[in-house]
Amino acid sequence: MSEDLPILACRDMSCQISARPKALDVLQNIDFTVARHTALGIVGESGAGKSMLVKSIMGIAPASVRVNGQIMLDGQDLFAMKPRDRARFIGRKVGIVFQNPMTSLNPYVPVGRQIAEACRQHFDVPRDEARQRAIELLRTVGIADPEDCYDYYPHHFSGGMKQRIMIAASLICHPDLLIADEATTALDVTVQKEVLDLLQTIQEQRQMSMILVSHNLGVVAGRTDEILVLYGGHVVEYGPTSEVFRNPRHRYTEALLSAMPHMDQPTHTRLRTIAGQPPSLANKPAGCPFAPRCGAAEGPCHTTMPDMRTGTDSRHRFACHFPLEQTVGPAVVSGATDRGARAQ
Ligand SMILES: Nc1ncnc2c1ncn2[C@@H]1O[C@H](COP(=O)(O)OP(=O)(O)OP(=O)(O)O)[C@@H](O)[C@H]1O
Ligand code: SF4
Ligand SMILES: [Mg+2]
Repeated sequence: MSEDLPILACRDMSCQISARPKALDVLQNIDFTVARHTALGIVGESGAGKSMLVKSIMGIAPASVRVNGQIMLDGQDLFAMKPRDRARFIGRKVGIVFQNPMTSLNPYVPVGRQIAEACRQHFDVPRDEARQRAIELLRTVGIADPEDCYDYYPHHFSGGMKQRIMIAASLICHPDLLIADEATTALDVTVQKEVLDLLQTIQEQRQMSMILVSHNLGVVAGRTDEILVLYGGHVVEYGPTSEVFRNPRHRYTEALLSAMPHMDQPTHTRLRTIAGQPPSLANKPAGCPFAPRCGAAEGPCHTTMPDMRTGTDSRHRFACHFPLEQTVGPAVVSGATDRGARAQ
């Protein structure tokens, strides 16, 4: 497959949950790509649709959810495939790490065997070779004494270690794309940083692409090339991470950035919050989904969904009737947010 082709391209994708009296729109008009060997951050508050987006890509959305649009994975149209072929193809191309390792790991099966079995499921390799591959991966993710740990059960490991084991399991099929959906949210801050650093190192070393999903902008700062901001099931801003951090144009992104703690704030500075609640699925606003919480909302904001526009950098897009002015310097956050300079 050509190196120029993005590993993932979602075009006009939408997700609807069947419900009475009418279906509920969880995601609408989702458009984005993930280039090879790059990392995309997907951020947004709880309920924005982040996990539904990931599950729809993976083909594991609940049966009540209808996914429309186009999803191209490594140049292949997923919806043009038979369900069985699609599941096998996705399983080989994409690895995923979820928030809670306890719901992903079987408590009654030794961790090494769980990793090795995933390998045998997708590749016809002998048991000994699968075991060896699993041990190597346990070593890669920083598990000491991987030969012994192969036979340990999940309860023998701490939360951070379990998440490392899940990362090892997600890598067993040599995926081209690794998706981490709030993979570190349940961990304490120090362990969170270790696991995030591990994810980034592995992504760079293995030349994979990665999608880092988080409600926390600090997690994606410095670890991603591009960022996609989801609000109420819509992409409201999308572009190079450093550009979006330096020059947010959508007012929701600005509010999210203003709610982040900064190193240069005096101690005891009260953190800003975003007043109000995200829209409920059953009661979405007619116009901009952020209108009920936006201080700049005017007439059209309440009636018309804003179109996506492009900033001075054509890769930077945002959907706002009255976008923030383009600035030249650090606008909302100070401090580096480029890849390699991490906020957390
Ligand atoms: N199986 C389901 N049935 C009905 N509604 C669902 C289902 N799964 C998710 N939803 C709804 O879809 C919306 C998006 O949920 P999703 O889990 O994708 O949010 P999220 O952005 O991942 O939030 P969080 O940060 O809390 O994980 C929410 O309003 C949620 O209540
Ligand atoms: S479209 Fe209107 S309501 Fe929505 S973010 Fe922009 S100014 Fe605020
Ligand atoms: Mg989620």
